[in-house]
Amino acid sequence: HQSVDSPLYPLLAAAAEFYRQALKSHPARQAAVDYLKGRGLSGTIARDFALGFAPPGWDNLLKHLGGDALQQKAMIDAGLLIENAETGKRYDRFRDRVVFPIRDGRGRVIAFGGRVLGDDKPKYLNSPETPVFHKGQELYGLFEARRHNRDLDEVIVVEGYMDVIALAQQGLRNAVATLGTATSEEHLKRLFRLVPSVLFCFDGDQAGRKAAWRALEATLPSLQDGRRARFLFLPEGEDPDSLVRAEGSEAFLARLEQQARPLADYFFQQLTAEADPRTLEGKAHLATLAAPLIEKIPGANLRALMRQRLGEITGLPGGIPPTPGHNQPPHA
Ligand code: CTP
Ligand code: MN
Ligand code: MN
Ligand code: MN
Ligand code: MN
Repeated sequence: HQSVDSPLYPLLAAAAEFYRQALKSHPARQAAVDYLKGRGLSGTIARDFALGFAPPGWDNLLKHLGGDALQQKAMIDAGLLIENAETGKRYDRFRDRVVFPIRDGRGRVIAFGGRVLGDDKPKYLNSPETPVFHKGQELYGLFEARRHNRDLDEVIVVEGYMDVIALAQQGLRNAVATLGTATSEEHLKRLFRLVPSVLFCFDGDQAGRKAAWRALEATLPSLQDGRRARFLFLPEGEDPDSLVRAEGSEAFLARLEQQARPLADYFFQQLTAEADPRTLEGKAHLATLAAPLIEKIPGANLRALMRQRLGEITGLPGGIPPTPGHNQPPHA
Protein backbone atom coordinates (compact mmCIF):
# COMPACT_ATOMS: atom_id res chain seq x y z
CA HIS A 1 0.00 0.00 0.00
CA GLN A 2 1.25 3.43 -0.99
CA SER A 3 0.65 4.99 2.40
CA VAL A 4 2.68 2.51 4.47
CA ASP A 5 5.58 4.87 5.14
CA SER A 6 3.77 8.10 4.52
CA PRO A 7 5.42 11.20 6.00
CA LEU A 8 1.90 12.23 7.00
CA TYR A 9 1.88 9.82 9.97
CA PRO A 10 4.44 11.66 12.12
CA LEU A 11 2.75 14.93 11.27
CA LEU A 12 -0.65 13.63 12.34
CA ALA A 13 0.87 12.20 15.51
CA ALA A 14 2.44 15.57 16.30
CA ALA A 15 -0.89 17.30 15.72
CA ALA A 16 -2.66 14.85 18.05
CA GLU A 17 -0.04 15.54 20.69
CA PHE A 18 -0.49 19.28 20.26
CA TYR A 19 -4.28 19.00 20.70
CA ARG A 20 -3.86 16.68 23.68
CA GLN A 21 -1.48 19.10 25.39
CA ALA A 22 -3.83 21.98 24.67
CA LEU A 23 -6.64 20.17 26.48
CA LYS A 24 -4.31 19.87 29.47
CA SER A 25 -2.70 23.27 29.58
CA HIS A 26 -3.91 25.83 27.04
CA PRO A 27 -5.25 29.01 28.71
CA ALA A 28 -8.57 28.57 26.87
CA ARG A 29 -8.92 24.89 27.79
CA GLN A 30 -11.55 25.26 30.51
CA ALA A 31 -14.49 25.53 28.12
CA ALA A 32 -13.48 22.24 26.49
CA VAL A 33 -12.90 20.52 29.82
CA ASP A 34 -16.30 21.70 31.04
CA TYR A 35 -17.90 20.53 27.83
CA LEU A 36 -16.48 17.01 28.14
CA LYS A 37 -17.35 16.83 31.84
CA GLY A 38 -20.85 18.02 31.01
CA ARG A 39 -21.16 15.05 28.71
CA GLY A 40 -20.24 12.72 31.52
CA LEU A 41 -16.69 11.88 30.52
CA SER A 42 -13.88 11.18 32.95
CA GLY A 43 -10.21 12.02 32.52
CA THR A 44 -9.47 8.33 32.09
CA ILE A 45 -11.74 7.96 29.09
CA ALA A 46 -10.46 11.23 27.62
CA ARG A 47 -6.96 9.80 27.91
CA ASP A 48 -7.87 6.38 26.45
CA PHE A 49 -9.34 8.07 23.39
CA ALA A 50 -6.57 10.67 23.30
CA LEU A 51 -9.10 13.49 23.22
CA GLY A 52 -7.73 16.94 22.55
CA PHE A 53 -8.61 20.57 22.12
CA ALA A 54 -8.01 22.76 19.10
CA PRO A 55 -7.76 26.22 20.67
CA PRO A 56 -9.56 29.23 19.22
CA GLY A 57 -7.54 31.09 16.60
CA TRP A 58 -6.52 30.63 12.99
CA ASP A 59 -2.91 29.48 13.27
CA ASN A 60 -2.18 27.65 16.53
CA LEU A 61 -1.24 24.38 14.86
CA LEU A 62 0.27 26.16 11.87
CA LYS A 63 2.66 28.03 14.15
CA HIS A 64 3.41 24.96 16.22
CA LEU A 65 4.23 22.61 13.34
CA GLY A 66 4.37 24.57 10.12
CA GLY A 67 8.02 25.54 9.90
CA ASP A 68 8.71 25.75 6.20
CA ALA A 69 6.70 25.68 2.98
CA LEU A 70 7.32 21.96 2.55
CA GLN A 71 6.00 21.20 6.01
CA GLN A 72 2.93 23.35 5.38
CA LYS A 73 2.27 21.53 2.12
CA ALA A 74 2.36 18.24 4.02
CA MET A 75 -0.03 19.66 6.61
CA ILE A 76 -2.45 20.53 3.83
CA ASP A 77 -2.14 16.99 2.45
CA ALA A 78 -2.83 15.63 5.93
CA GLY A 79 -6.01 17.70 6.19
CA LEU A 80 -4.66 19.76 9.08
CA LEU A 81 -4.42 23.05 7.22
CA ILE A 82 -6.75 24.62 4.69
CA GLU A 83 -5.41 26.80 1.90
CA ASN A 84 -7.65 29.57 0.61
CA ALA A 85 -7.78 29.06 -3.15
CA GLU A 86 -7.85 32.78 -3.96
CA THR A 87 -5.54 34.35 -1.40
CA GLY A 88 -3.29 31.31 -0.85
CA LYS A 89 -3.61 31.98 2.87
CA ARG A 90 -3.26 28.91 5.07
CA TYR A 91 -5.08 28.32 8.33
CA ASP A 92 -5.90 25.59 10.83
CA ARG A 93 -8.83 23.35 9.87
CA PHE A 94 -9.77 22.61 13.49
CA ARG A 95 -10.39 25.69 15.63
CA ASP A 96 -12.09 26.01 19.00
CA ARG A 97 -13.27 22.40 18.98
CA VAL A 98 -12.93 19.26 21.00
CA VAL A 99 -10.80 16.97 18.86
CA PHE A 100 -11.19 13.22 18.41
CA PRO A 101 -8.17 11.49 16.84
CA ILE A 102 -9.13 8.66 14.51
CA ARG A 103 -6.61 5.82 14.66
CA ASP A 104 -6.03 2.96 12.29
CA GLY A 105 -5.76 -0.69 13.29
CA ARG A 106 -2.15 -0.19 14.38
CA GLY A 107 -2.95 2.85 16.46
CA ARG A 108 -1.54 5.44 14.10
CA VAL A 109 -3.46 8.71 13.99
CA ILE A 110 -4.86 9.06 10.46
CA ALA A 111 -7.50 11.77 10.83
CA PHE A 112 -9.48 13.91 13.26
CA GLY A 113 -13.00 14.82 14.04
CA GLY A 114 -13.75 18.06 15.83
CA ARG A 115 -16.91 19.06 17.69
CA VAL A 116 -18.02 22.58 18.51
CA LEU A 117 -18.42 23.27 22.21
CA GLY A 118 -21.92 24.63 21.77
CA ASP A 119 -24.67 24.62 19.19
CA ASP A 120 -22.82 26.25 16.28
CA LYS A 121 -22.82 24.67 12.84
CA PRO A 122 -21.34 22.51 11.54
CA LYS A 123 -21.56 20.42 14.70
CA TYR A 124 -18.73 18.14 13.54
CA LEU A 125 -15.83 18.79 11.21
CA ASN A 126 -13.84 15.84 9.92
CA SER A 127 -10.54 15.45 8.10
CA PRO A 128 -10.99 15.15 4.34
CA GLU A 129 -9.96 12.05 2.37
CA THR A 130 -6.16 11.97 2.43
CA PRO A 131 -3.51 9.45 1.33
CA VAL A 132 -3.81 7.83 4.78
CA PHE A 133 -7.52 8.33 5.52
CA HIS A 134 -10.17 6.54 3.50
CA LYS A 135 -13.49 7.36 5.11
CA GLY A 136 -15.53 4.44 3.88
CA GLN A 137 -13.05 1.97 5.35
CA GLU A 138 -12.27 3.22 8.81
CA LEU A 139 -14.11 2.50 12.02
CA TYR A 140 -13.69 4.94 14.86
CA GLY A 141 -12.93 3.19 18.13
CA LEU A 142 -11.82 -0.15 16.70
CA PHE A 143 -8.21 0.35 17.76
CA GLU A 144 -9.30 1.37 21.27
CA ALA A 145 -11.73 -1.55 21.57
CA ARG A 146 -9.07 -4.06 20.52
CA ARG A 147 -6.48 -2.53 22.76
CA HIS A 148 -8.85 -2.94 25.68
CA ASN A 149 -9.74 -6.53 24.81
CA ARG A 150 -7.80 -8.57 22.25
CA ASP A 151 -10.48 -11.24 22.47
CA LEU A 152 -13.64 -9.38 21.55
CA ASP A 153 -16.65 -11.57 20.79
CA GLU A 154 -19.03 -8.85 19.67
CA VAL A 155 -18.67 -5.34 18.33
CA ILE A 156 -21.40 -2.70 18.60
CA VAL A 157 -21.63 -0.47 15.54
CA VAL A 158 -22.94 3.04 16.27
CA GLU A 159 -23.09 6.31 14.37
CA GLY A 160 -21.00 8.82 16.26
CA TYR A 161 -17.87 9.63 18.20
CA MET A 162 -19.78 10.38 21.37
CA ASP A 163 -21.75 7.14 21.15
CA VAL A 164 -18.50 5.15 21.17
CA ILE A 165 -17.02 7.19 24.00
CA ALA A 166 -20.16 7.30 26.16
CA LEU A 167 -20.53 3.52 25.91
CA ALA A 168 -16.85 3.12 26.86
CA GLN A 169 -17.39 5.47 29.79
CA GLN A 170 -20.13 3.11 31.00
CA GLY A 171 -17.84 0.10 30.65
CA LEU A 172 -19.03 -1.03 27.23
CA ARG A 173 -15.67 -0.91 25.52
CA ASN A 174 -16.59 -2.66 22.29
CA ALA A 175 -18.30 0.06 20.24
CA VAL A 176 -17.10 1.42 16.91
CA ALA A 177 -18.55 4.18 14.73
CA THR A 178 -18.95 4.66 11.01
CA LEU A 179 -18.86 8.48 11.44
CA GLY A 180 -21.72 9.60 9.28
CA THR A 181 -20.83 7.42 6.32
CA ALA A 182 -22.95 4.41 5.45
CA THR A 183 -21.81 1.05 6.79
CA SER A 184 -19.97 -0.60 3.91
CA GLU A 185 -19.25 -4.19 2.93
CA GLU A 186 -15.60 -3.31 3.64
CA HIS A 187 -16.46 -2.34 7.21
CA LEU A 188 -18.23 -5.64 7.76
CA LYS A 189 -15.53 -7.76 6.19
CA ARG A 190 -13.07 -6.11 8.50
CA LEU A 191 -15.22 -6.59 11.60
CA PHE A 192 -16.04 -10.22 10.89
CA ARG A 193 -12.35 -11.02 10.56
CA LEU A 194 -12.11 -10.00 14.22
CA VAL A 195 -15.43 -11.03 15.78
CA PRO A 196 -18.21 -13.55 15.02
CA SER A 197 -21.01 -11.21 16.07
CA VAL A 198 -21.92 -7.63 15.18
CA LEU A 199 -24.63 -5.56 16.82
CA PHE A 200 -25.94 -2.48 15.05
CA CYS A 201 -27.28 0.26 17.26
CA PHE A 202 -28.05 3.43 15.35
CA ASP A 203 -29.93 6.54 16.39
CA GLY A 204 -33.66 6.32 17.05
CA ASP A 205 -34.65 8.48 14.12
CA GLN A 206 -35.47 8.14 10.43
CA ALA A 207 -31.80 8.41 9.41
CA GLY A 208 -30.84 5.74 11.93
CA ARG A 209 -33.48 3.32 10.67
CA LYS A 210 -32.36 3.91 7.11
CA ALA A 211 -28.76 3.30 8.17
CA ALA A 212 -29.83 -0.01 9.74
CA TRP A 213 -31.26 -1.35 6.49
CA ARG A 214 -28.15 -0.29 4.60
CA ALA A 215 -26.06 -2.03 7.24
CA LEU A 216 -28.13 -5.19 6.76
CA GLU A 217 -27.46 -5.10 3.02
CA ALA A 218 -23.73 -4.55 3.63
CA THR A 219 -23.67 -7.48 6.07
CA LEU A 220 -25.22 -10.13 3.82
CA PRO A 221 -22.00 -10.95 1.86
CA SER A 222 -20.16 -11.59 5.14
CA LEU A 223 -22.76 -13.95 6.64
CA GLN A 224 -20.99 -17.26 6.76
CA ASP A 225 -22.63 -19.85 8.99
CA GLY A 226 -21.34 -19.29 12.52
CA ARG A 227 -21.55 -15.53 12.23
CA ARG A 228 -24.45 -13.37 13.25
CA ALA A 229 -25.64 -9.79 13.11
CA ARG A 230 -28.22 -8.22 15.39
CA PHE A 231 -30.06 -4.91 15.40
CA LEU A 232 -31.09 -2.85 18.39
CA PHE A 233 -33.59 -0.11 17.59
CA LEU A 234 -33.65 2.73 20.08
CA PRO A 235 -36.62 4.78 21.27
CA GLU A 236 -37.41 7.80 19.07
CA GLY A 237 -35.01 10.65 19.72
CA GLU A 238 -32.40 8.59 21.59
CA ASP A 239 -28.92 7.62 20.51
CA PRO A 240 -26.59 5.18 22.31
CA ASP A 241 -24.91 8.08 24.13
CA SER A 242 -28.12 9.63 25.43
CA LEU A 243 -29.65 6.27 26.31
CA VAL A 244 -26.72 4.71 28.13
CA ARG A 245 -26.25 7.90 30.11
CA ALA A 246 -29.94 8.01 31.00
CA GLU A 247 -30.36 4.38 32.00
CA GLY A 248 -26.87 3.11 32.81
CA SER A 249 -24.97 0.16 31.44
CA GLU A 250 -26.94 -2.60 33.16
CA ALA A 251 -30.28 -1.45 31.82
CA PHE A 252 -28.70 -0.87 28.44
CA LEU A 253 -27.31 -4.41 28.38
CA ALA A 254 -30.65 -5.83 29.53
CA ARG A 255 -32.39 -3.90 26.76
CA LEU A 256 -29.87 -5.27 24.34
CA GLU A 257 -30.45 -8.88 25.39
CA GLN A 258 -34.22 -8.48 25.32
CA GLN A 259 -34.67 -6.36 22.23
CA ALA A 260 -31.77 -6.95 19.85
CA ARG A 261 -33.24 -8.63 16.79
CA PRO A 262 -31.48 -11.23 14.69
CA LEU A 263 -30.81 -10.09 11.15
CA ALA A 264 -33.23 -12.62 9.65
CA ASP A 265 -36.10 -11.38 11.85
CA TYR A 266 -35.50 -7.78 10.94
CA PHE A 267 -35.14 -8.77 7.29
CA PHE A 268 -38.55 -10.45 7.02
CA GLN A 269 -40.32 -7.95 9.26
CA GLN A 270 -39.08 -5.07 7.12
CA LEU A 271 -39.95 -6.73 3.81
CA THR A 272 -43.40 -7.84 4.93
CA ALA A 273 -44.05 -4.24 5.95
CA GLU A 274 -43.11 -3.14 2.43
CA ALA A 275 -45.00 -5.81 0.51
CA ASP A 276 -48.28 -7.12 1.93
CA PRO A 277 -47.90 -10.89 2.34
CA ARG A 278 -51.70 -11.33 2.57
CA THR A 279 -52.16 -10.72 -1.14
CA LEU A 280 -50.72 -12.67 -4.05
CA GLU A 281 -49.38 -9.45 -5.56
CA GLY A 282 -47.69 -8.62 -2.28
CA LYS A 283 -46.20 -12.11 -2.04
CA ALA A 284 -44.88 -11.79 -5.57
CA HIS A 285 -43.34 -8.42 -4.78
CA LEU A 286 -41.92 -9.70 -1.52
CA ALA A 287 -40.24 -12.63 -3.26
CA THR A 288 -38.74 -10.30 -5.86
CA LEU A 289 -37.33 -8.05 -3.16
CA ALA A 290 -36.09 -10.82 -0.88
CA ALA A 291 -34.65 -13.40 -3.25
CA PRO A 292 -31.66 -11.44 -4.62
CA LEU A 293 -30.70 -10.38 -1.10
CA ILE A 294 -30.89 -13.92 0.27
CA GLU A 295 -28.70 -15.11 -2.59
CA LYS A 296 -25.90 -12.81 -1.35
CA ILE A 297 -25.51 -14.84 1.83
CA PRO A 298 -22.47 -17.14 1.59
CA GLY A 299 -23.53 -19.34 4.53
CA ALA A 300 -25.27 -22.28 2.85
CA ASN A 301 -27.33 -23.17 5.90
CA LEU A 302 -28.56 -19.68 6.65
CA ARG A 303 -29.25 -19.14 2.96
CA ALA A 304 -31.32 -22.33 2.79
CA LEU A 305 -33.23 -21.44 5.95
CA MET A 306 -34.05 -17.99 4.69
CA ARG A 307 -35.20 -19.35 1.33
CA GLN A 308 -37.39 -21.77 3.26
CA ARG A 309 -38.80 -18.96 5.37
CA LEU A 310 -39.54 -16.96 2.24
CA GLY A 311 -41.26 -20.05 0.86
CA GLU A 312 -43.45 -20.27 3.96
CA ILE A 313 -44.44 -16.63 3.61
CA THR A 314 -45.09 -16.60 -0.14
CA GLY A 315 -45.98 -20.20 -0.94
CA LEU A 316 -43.43 -20.14 -3.74
CA PRO A 317 -41.45 -23.40 -3.91
CA GLY A 318 -38.12 -22.89 -2.23
CA GLY A 319 -39.15 -19.27 -1.70
CA ILE A 320 -37.33 -18.27 -4.85
CA PRO A 321 -39.20 -16.83 -7.81
CA PRO A 322 -38.51 -18.42 -11.22
CA THR A 323 -35.54 -16.85 -13.01
CA PRO A 324 -36.49 -14.45 -15.83
CA GLY A 325 -35.59 -17.01 -18.51
CA HIS A 326 -38.30 -19.33 -17.23
CA ASN A 327 -41.28 -17.04 -17.28
CA GLN A 328 -41.15 -15.56 -20.76
CA PRO A 329 -44.47 -15.83 -22.60
CA PRO A 330 -44.51 -18.60 -25.22
CA HIS A 331 -43.02 -17.60 -28.61
CA ALA A 332 -41.39 -14.55 -27.01
N1 CTP B 1 -21.46 13.87 11.64
C1 CTP B 1 -20.60 14.67 10.90
N2 CTP B 1 -20.92 15.97 10.60
C2 CTP B 1 -22.10 16.50 11.04
C3 CTP B 1 -23.00 15.71 11.76
C4 CTP B 1 -22.65 14.39 12.05
O1 CTP B 1 -19.53 14.21 10.52
N3 CTP B 1 -22.38 17.77 10.76
C5 CTP B 1 -21.06 12.51 11.96
C6 CTP B 1 -20.28 12.52 13.25
O2 CTP B 1 -19.30 11.49 13.18
C7 CTP B 1 -21.34 12.20 14.27
C8 CTP B 1 -22.19 11.19 13.51
O3 CTP B 1 -22.17 11.66 12.17
O4 CTP B 1 -20.78 11.69 15.45
C9 CTP B 1 -23.60 11.05 14.01
O5 CTP B 1 -24.30 12.26 13.83
P1 CTP B 1 -25.36 12.80 14.87
O6 CTP B 1 -26.20 11.70 15.39
O7 CTP B 1 -26.03 13.97 14.27
O8 CTP B 1 -24.40 13.38 15.98
P2 CTP B 1 -24.03 12.83 17.43
O9 CTP B 1 -22.85 11.93 17.31
O10 CTP B 1 -25.22 12.31 18.13
O11 CTP B 1 -23.54 14.23 18.04
P3 CTP B 1 -23.64 14.82 19.51
O12 CTP B 1 -24.14 13.78 20.42
O13 CTP B 1 -22.22 15.24 19.80
O14 CTP B 1 -24.55 15.99 19.40
MN1 MN C 1 -4.21 4.74 0.44
MN1 MN D 1 -28.04 10.92 14.07
MN1 MN E 1 -25.55 12.26 20.24
MN1 MN F 1 -26.56 10.83 17.34
